[in-house]
Amino acid sequence: MQSIRRVTLAVTGGIAAYKSCEFVRALKKTGIDVHVAMTEHATAFVGPITFEALTAHPVALTEWTPGGQGTMPHIALNQDCDLLIVMPATANILAKAANGIADDLVSSLILARRQPVLFVPAMNRFMWDNPATQRNVARLKADGALFAGPVCGYQACGDNGAGRMIEPDEVMDLLPGLLTPKSLAGRRVVLTAGPTFEPIDDVRGITNRSSGRQGFEIARAARDAGADVTLIAGPTTLPTPYGIKRINTVTARDMLKAVTQTLDSKGADIFIGVAAVADWRVTNAKEGKIKKIDGCLPELQFEENPDILRTVGERSDVAVKIGFAAEATNLENYARVKCNSKHADLIVGNIAHQALGSDQNDVLFVTPNNAESFGPAEKHVVAEEIIRRAALILNTKETH
Ligand code: CTP
Repeated sequence: MQSIRRVTLAVTGGIAAYKSCEFVRALKKTGIDVHVAMTEHATAFVGPITFEALTAHPVALTEWTPGGQGTMPHIALNQDCDLLIVMPATANILAKAANGIADDLVSSLILARRQPVLFVPAMNRFMWDNPATQRNVARLKADGALFAGPVCGYQACGDNGAGRMIEPDEVMDLLPGLLTPKSLAGRRVVLTAGPTFEPIDDVRGITNRSSGRQGFEIARAARDAGADVTLIAGPTTLPTPYGIKRINTVTARDMLKAVTQTLDSKGADIFIGVAAVADWRVTNAKEGKIKKIDGCLPELQFEENPDILRTVGERSDVAVKIGFAAEATNLENYARVKCNSKHADLIVGNIAHQALGSDQNDVLFVTPNNAESFGPAEKHVVAEEIIRRAALILNTKETH
């Protein structure tokens, strides 16, 4: 992941400009240096003083104020800058940028850039849907510009539809992986994450210990690599990462149904089973609540749950299958047995009690004939490595 240390934020004239203030604060909190340029229209919505106070730098408003080292602002603001973000990006600035028009500071800044540019559009839905805007967006994307949003939703003008700017925290979620090479562009990734929950009655149940964090990080890493991602989650309170389709499930059977339906309807290039699926379910679960009667213990009967990874492993229409193995001992042996019995291309093994509740993971990548350790590393770093290996396996399979 390429780290972002300095950002130039170009603010154009839309009501969503006020959200850019919150965005600057979030950037600053992560240690990113921010310089702001504004169009004249943007200053009608937010005063430059606000951005000056938030960034501790003067705000550039015209091309004519002298910049650093004798250069003009549209040149100076592009120097030593890792990313140019246009937020909010109006239909007007997209039209100018798509056509190379440079008739004010912000459009000149975009034309004179050397670093990647991210547009975060915000406009009325009819402006967004207009073929002219769609043409401009397609042109900018073809030229390598990055886009985040817009989404459908309530708009300041009272309309409801596509054109609403995505939230600053969603842009923050995208930022770390924005410059990641798009090794999975045009690919589909389906993954399971979190625990499952098998009811005993309406208030009790059995589950596995799993926060879902490693799975959610893998979903993010797949998204950052350019994949279309469906995340099938068990019960977890983790927020859905931006740009990922999430399907919530409770039991192992629900989870298998969601996986099968997703694979049948949309297909997938890569399946990753990260979920800690409960191995058994209670066959005599009760409606309501089993009352505690002193001296009497409920007699629970169990049945084995379906194995989701093995079920997908047997499908020939999913090219790459990856699973996990959380073990207490004998990691390599058990992981290899799982790799073979579940027809997986790769098993990511870890010692269960070390990974649970930790920000880090220490893993062993096990294939039918190899084992390689990785870590300890932050869960997002492990996630990026898993996606790197998944893309490699996919490419190898396709070229043979
Ligand atoms: N898995 C699954 N469905 C199950 C059980 C496990 O899809 N019913 C998947 C997990 O998502 C993981 C892999 O299989 O990718 C291994 O899970 P794990 O719980 O470590 O192994 P089990 O097969 O349940 O075997 P054991 O509990 O005996 O270790």
